[in-house]
Amino acid sequence: MAASSSPIHHLPPEITQYRLTNAHGYVKTSNHLGEGGFGTVLLYKNSNAPFDEAAGKHLKISPNQATTEFFDELAPLCAITRAGGCEYIAPFLGYIDSPELVILTKYFKNKSLWDEMKDVVKGPFPPERSLKYFYQIAKGLEFLHHDLPERKRILHRDLKCQNILLSDDTESIKLADFGLAFNLAVDSHSVTLSDEAPSEENSMCGTFAFMAPEVLIAKKYGRRSDIWSLACTLVQMLTMKPPYFRSAKEFIEKARGLKSNQLKYKGNLFLPQQLQNTEISVLLDCMFIKNPDQRPMVEKVLEVLTIVQQSPLKVGIDNAKVNELKTKIGKDKGISVAMFEKIFNWIACY
Ligand SMILES: Nc1ncnc2c1ncn2[C@@H]1O[C@H](COP(=O)(O)OP(=O)(O)O)[C@@H](O)[C@H]1O
Ligand SMILES: [Mg+2]
Repeated sequence: MAASSSPIHHLPPEITQYRLTNAHGYVKTSNHLGEGGFGTVLLYKNSNAPFDEAAGKHLKISPNQATTEFFDELAPLCAITRAGGCEYIAPFLGYIDSPELVILTKYFKNKSLWDEMKDVVKGPFPPERSLKYFYQIAKGLEFLHHDLPERKRILHRDLKCQNILLSDDTESIKLADFGLAFNLAVDSHSVTLSDEAPSEENSMCGTFAFMAPEVLIAKKYGRRSDIWSLACTLVQMLTMKPPYFRSAKEFIEKARGLKSNQLKYKGNLFLPQQLQNTEISVLLDCMFIKNPDQRPMVEKVLEVLTIVQQSPLKVGIDNAKVNELKTKIGKDKGISVAMFEKIFNWIACY
C-alpha cells in the first residue's frame, strides 16, 4: 500500500496508507453482493492470490467529486485497523480511488444477518442464536465505544441486521457499514471525549425504525443511542422486524392511538408469546429507555450476559442481574406524538 498520484487531495497520511495502488491485484467481478443507501457492493477476486476474495463497496460519487462522505466512511475503518482491529468488526483491506471510489473489506459468503434470515432461515432466528449474535454485536460496540484510544472512539449510528455480517461457519458476526459512523472526539468539537455529540439538523442517521428518541428529535447522538439501535436489532433478529416497523401510516396511527398519547417501548409488546416475561423481555426493557442518560452503556448490557459455553458459543441472560438493572433504571416514559409527527415528515422525504 502506498500513496502516490491519488486523484483525491487532502487526505491525511493515516488514511492514504490504506490506498491500494493498482487495486493491489483486486479485480471486480459481476457478482453483486448487495445494495445499500451508499453504494453497490461487488465481489472482488485477487489476480495474485486466486482464493483471496473481497467485498468492494462502490460509492455513488466519482473520485473528482470526492467529498467528506468518502473520508467519513474511511476514517473510522482506518482508525479501527490502526488500533489492531477487533474480532467482531469486518476487516478493512484498503481503498481504491481510481477509476471509482471503492472500499474493500473481507468477503463473507453468508453476507449479512438480514440476508441469512431472509434467504436461508426464511424467518427469525431462534432465541439462542439471537443471543449469541447479540453478545458479539455488544462486544463489537464495546470496542468502538470504550476500547479504542480515547480520541478515536466511534459511534456506529446505523446498527441493524443489514449492516452486520455473518462468518462463514455462521458462529460469529462482524459489524460493518461505517458510512454513518461518527468520531466522538473529532466531530463533537471537543478535545476531550464527550458522551454526546450534536447530530446534524435533518440528517437521516440510519433507518428511522432503529433510531433512538434523542436522534429522532435531532438533539443529540451519544453512545447510548447505539444501545437503542442494539435493542431494535435484537427485536429484528427475534421477529424479523424492528419495533413498529410496518408503514409510516401505521407508525403514526399507533402513536396517536394509545390512550396516554405515547408509543410504548416494552419488550413484551414486540416479542412472540413464548418469549414474553422472559429475561429477554426484561433485557429489552432495560435498553428501551427514552431518556438516554438513564439508558445503560454497553458494558452494563454485557454485565447481564453470561457465557454458558465457549465453543460453540452459548450465551444466556442472568435473571437476577437483569432484574436488578431494570429496578435501578426505574420507570420510563414512552415517545410523544410530537416526536412521531417529526419522524413522519422525515419518512415522507426518505
Ligand atoms: N464484506 C461483505 N461480504 C459480503 N457481503 C457484504 C459485505 N459487505 C456488504 N455486503 C452486502 O452488501 C450489503 C450492503 O453493504 P453496506 O456496507 O451496508 O452498504 P450501504 O452503506 O450501501 O448500506 C450488505 O447488507 C450485505 O448484504
Ligand atoms: Mg448498510
